[in-house]
Amino acid sequence: MSILVAPSILSADFANLGRDVVRLEEAGADWIHIDVMDGHFVPNLTFGPPVISAIRPHTTRPFDVHLMIENPEREIIAYRDAGADIITVHVEACHHLERTLTQIRQLGAKAGVALNPGTHESSIEYVVDVIDLVLIMTVNPGFGGQSFLSHVVRKIENVQKWLERMGRTDVRIEVDGGITGETAKTCIAAGASVLVAGSAIFRAPSFLEGITDLRGF
Ligand code: DX5
Ligand code: ZN
Repeated sequence: MSILVAPSILSADFANLGRDVVRLEEAGADWIHIDVMDGHFVPNLTFGPPVISAIRPHTTRPFDVHLMIENPEREIIAYRDAGADIITVHVEACHHLERTLTQIRQLGAKAGVALNPGTHESSIEYVVDVIDLVLIMTVNPGFGGQSFLSHVVRKIENVQKWLERMGRTDVRIEVDGGITGETAKTCIAAGASVLVAGSAIFRAPSFLEGITDLRGF
């Protein structure tokens, strides 16, 4: 499976989000990763549908919307209308996970399910038929710039093997948090095919260098 790079605009200049997504697309970003935080599920607050709608006309790249919010089922239509192509919800935030994932797909978006570092992969066992993506958090969500938790690599391997057993090799594994050129290699070897990165791209000398370094070529 091809390796996709999804820069997280959590590390962008919030006063110039439109400009930054244009530059990310020019530098070869595959998806634009949008971290939505509600100040409840995670101890930080970012942006919601109006900001996503505002940046939507600036790029044709898919919007990969990572909802770190409580009760995401209430907001899914709003995020889809704002321009989300992939909508990912956290297992820990959903009372009716299967229903929420099905709802995302019925709206014509791809459905992603996210696991915090402390959540066991068995929690997604019964939603295998309604997912397009598994997002494995490699830091505790809430902030950019944290260090990669290496014990999560085993979870990536386990999810990869499970997807194979279930005949769902079309489902991508995405990793998010502390991804650098080095940790990306480890995650790819374990089965990840979508790399989310904030700091590694925004702190690189240029977006192109940051993205190239992650891809490994
Ligand atoms: C963490 C977010 C990540 C974060 C990654 O809560 O979900 O997407 O922005 O940032 P870095 O790459 O800086 O760890
Ligand atoms: Zn994220």
